Amino acid sequence: MNFLDLVKARYSVRNYSSQPIEKEKLDYVMECVRLAPSAVNFQPWQFIIADSEDVRAKLCQCYTREWFATAPMYVIACADHSVSWKRRHDGKDHADVDISIAVEHLCLAATEQGLGTCWVCAFDAALCKQLLALPEHLEPIAVVPIGYPAELNVPEKNRKSMEEIIYSGKLHD
Ligand SMILES: Cc1cc2nc3c(=O)[nH]c(=O)nc-3n(C[C@H](O)[C@H](O)[C@H](O)COP(=O)(O)O)c2cc1C
Repeated sequence: MNFLDLVKARYSVRNYSSQPIEKEKLDYVMECVRLAPSAVNFQPWQFIIADSEDVRAKLCQCYTREWFATAPMYVIACADHSVSWKRRHDGKDHADVDISIAVEHLCLAATEQGLGTCWVCAFDAALCKQLLALPEHLEPIAVVPIGYPAELNVPEKNRKSMEEIIYSGKLHD
């Protein structure tokens, strides 16, 4: 599969089979996460892999969509603001940027392995932090369900056209 085919094959999976994920596949996906780039190579992240009944139930309190509970496993991507790079000029914290790259590595690597994922950010992050007793410096950014899709159903990509997203005019008069 070339990169464009992989990008086309990834989609937000919102229905999972209960088939467990092979350890080698999970290890492969997490190695792709580990090798993601980050600002100044600070790697300001921790990833919690959750498949126990107890933690799955807690996560389902933080994001209550029915489909979410079908996933056999979740990766909670947490930003560590105590080590993330802050831009000198304006103090901008780049933890979210770094986490986003790592999570997309996860999603693409999982797709390559025949697994499905879905970015989930619309969860109750404060509740998640409390229920999982996360330390103060960790912020849960995304909770990514991962597992085998229950059905094979790659939807059409609904995206803006190239003309809409690329500005090729003059920036200034
Ligand atoms: C930062 C981010 C947050 C998202 N949060 C959610 C979410 O909370 N729940 C959900 O069902 N999908 C979520 N999505 C998935 C998007 O809805 C989805 O990626 C988009 O509609 C494009 O569809 P596709 O992933 O199938 O190509 C999120 C995606 C991103 C990148």
